[in-house]
Amino acid sequence: GGGVELVSDGVITTCTHLPYEPFQFQEGDEVVGFDVDVVDEIASDLGVEQEIVNIPFETIQSGEALNAGQCDVAAAGMTITDVREENMDFSTPYFDATQALLVPADSGISSAEDLDGLQLAVQSGTTGADYAAENIPGAELVTYEDLGLLLTAVQTGQVDAGINDNGVLLDFVADNPELAVTTEFDTGEQYGIGVRTGNTALLDQVDTTLERIREDGTYDEIYTEWFGS
Ligand code: ARG
Repeated sequence: GGGVELVSDGVITTCTHLPYEPFQFQEGDEVVGFDVDVVDEIASDLGVEQEIVNIPFETIQSGEALNAGQCDVAAAGMTITDVREENMDFSTPYFDATQALLVPADSGISSAEDLDGLQLAVQSGTTGADYAAENIPGAELVTYEDLGLLLTAVQTGQVDAGINDNGVLLDFVADNPELAVTTEFDTGEQYGIGVRTGNTALLDQVDTTLERIREDGTYDEIYTEWFGS
């Protein structure tokens, strides 16, 4: 006892948006994944349990969900950006990412130029959607609410290609060889865990846990579990 109470009722609530395999996705009755394991470490250091709140990514990345008190932290494979920094505070980076292009393996599409006049699926509110709007002007962008819908759209030929983070797309093509990741756009993104602006007590705990798991090997174990060696 005696410590500052960082979260209430023995629970740390996590805003996230499913599905985003392997970072957060449903497996049977449970939500599992890389981010879930990382926040479980934060929860364990706080002596509480993690509870997942599944909401639209748009309301997570805008800071709206955190500011409305819907959750204590946001962990959603979410890239740290300058705009988002204005609406929440971010932990130290915990994962590196780039944007990647998902296409049918036999499509011959392998660059932004190849997408001229074609339909490109983007996920609502994401850095991939922003990247495509700014850098792939020749494509017609088609917006999907979540990653699952985007993947299905590419798989069923509703669209010609899709853009999203490399981690999720590479994971998907490993099980779906009829699709391929033919290009990565080196955006140099880094994922962070968000807290309400000014909640430095919780942010310090998040950063302390991230540092601990990097040092004691837990981060590597979690990485290997979800991405292989
Ligand atoms: N990293 C990208 C971004 O921050 C995509 C994240 C999408 N995450 C999710 N759980 N749906 O915009």
